[in-house]
Amino acid sequence: MKWTFAGVCSLVVLTALAAVRHTAADEPQRNQLLFANGAGVQQTITTADSFDFDNPFFQDLGTNGRTCFTCHRPDQAWTVTPERIRERFLITGGLDPIFRNNDGSNCENADVSTLRKRRAAFSLLLAKGLIRIGIDVPANAEFTIEDVDDPYNCGAPTTKASLYRRPLPSTNLGFLSTVMWDGRETVKGQAIVDDLATQANDATTGHAQGAPLSLTQARDIVKFETGLFTAQTFDYGAGSLRGNGALGGPAALSTQPFCIGINDPLNLLPVMPGACPTSSGGLNPNVFTIFNAWDLALLPQRRSIARGEALFNTRSFAIDNVGGLNGGADDPIKGSFNGTCTICHDTPNSGNHSISMPLNIGLTGADRRTPDLPLYTLRNKTTQESVTTTDIGRAMVSGKWSDIGKFKGPILRGLAARAPYFHNGSAATLEEAVDFYDTRFHIGLTTQEKKDLVAFLNAL
Ligand code: HEC
Ligand code: HEC
Repeated sequence: MKWTFAGVCSLVVLTALAAVRHTAADEPQRNQLLFANGAGVQQTITTADSFDFDNPFFQDLGTNGRTCFTCHRPDQAWTVTPERIRERFLITGGLDPIFRNNDGSNCENADVSTLRKRRAAFSLLLAKGLIRIGIDVPANAEFTIEDVDDPYNCGAPTTKASLYRRPLPSTNLGFLSTVMWDGRETVKGQAIVDDLATQANDATTGHAQGAPLSLTQARDIVKFETGLFTAQTFDYGAGSLRGNGALGGPAALSTQPFCIGINDPLNLLPVMPGACPTSSGGLNPNVFTIFNAWDLALLPQRRSIARGEALFNTRSFAIDNVGGLNGGADDPIKGSFNGTCTICHDTPNSGNHSISMPLNIGLTGADRRTPDLPLYTLRNKTTQESVTTTDIGRAMVSGKWSDIGKFKGPILRGLAARAPYFHNGSAATLEEAVDFYDTRFHIGLTTQEKKDLVAFLNAL
């Protein structure tokens, strides 16, 4: 989207109006935040009495000036967007703490001594909001990195890889079944809150280059972030997303029941704290029920959102060759089958995968490589087979050849405020995300169906 001064001003006014409208209804409002975005207004609530801005989440606990808030901001759905990052670059001349060369720059220890050099060094962060995740090839890996076609010529040894990823939102965390895109903070059998405590610690020692957190600090951060619920609450076309029986916005989301495996086509109930007592007995494809009441709404934009929700739940297409699902010899399903978006996005009204199940949906192949991303050539140590990928994904954690290019299915709430999408920010808009699926799975969506799906995703 192109931002004009007038456009920005009208957004600010609308935010102010929205804030006035809400505060008049139920004061005091120390437990909610409202921010405008391109589609409407997004709201975050906390289950605590008020937002604790003194929480260690906002404290400088490292050595490079970074806090969790550097990369997880409420107005950007608790991640960071390229537009806002570029503003920070302009205002600070590229010296804001997000611009650090441990992992903000394309290459580790990049030369950032002049403004011009900083602009080049942080180009992926500025263009797509990508942070460099540097991981060593696991000792037990079934593969070696044979070659990397690196547009930045970082000169890193092939025993490690730089993977450029979008910060995941630090909100709605109560619905997680996997922590991080590649699940690297998820320990099998361990509660997600414990994974999150380790994650907070690793973020402090890694992104912020600090000393390890105390147990109390880690616990306080997890308490703060797990109390947050974020969702779109107002849509410029459809009005209040809670009008006429709809259940949009974070308050309804905060009452949504969840346990791991709550809705799973494969009934793979894991043994861990937070798992459901019994398996779901298959998939209920009607994952989103927020806008059911709008089927016959008067406002056309409301009916469009309701149609988009129905498409997401029920539009069936051939799901083929998805690594982790039906793409490999060890996968649970053999061959192509007909399924919906909700085969993978199965957590009720949250949309992430309700169990930990890394999947390769085809975002990282050479065919989709853009010139700004590196292309890794990997060789299988046993079979000598080779593949190319822009992100090695789960395989950098497990070492498994079959895990190359696999990522988790993320939570789909608060989307409107946090473009671009996918782990590598490859979809600049929700239209592009929908187009990816239409092309990848040959769905054959009509222009109207695409519009409806986008209207729905924007209302989440
Ligand atoms: C320099 C930017 C940066 C900073 C600072 C940062 N994060 Fe993150 N965060 C990221 C990125 C990038 C990811 C996703 C990385 C991946 O999955 O490979 C992420 C992922 C997460 C997730 C995972 C959410 C999910 O859905 O799995 C949580 C939770 C989180 N961060 C919390 C924190 C906390 C708490 C702090 C402070 C202690 C922090 N982050 C500091 C960039 C940052
Ligand atoms: C075969 C499993 C599967 C199916 C089917 C599927 N998704 Fe996804 N979806 C994923 C995975 C996995 C990701 C994360 C991929 C990545 O970034 O590497 C994802 C990511 C997304 C994102 C980006 C979220 C973000 O935070 O960046 C959107 C939007 C999305 N899916 C919408 C849809 C829609 C709409 C459909 C149906 C047309 C659909 N998905 C069907 C597995 C699936």
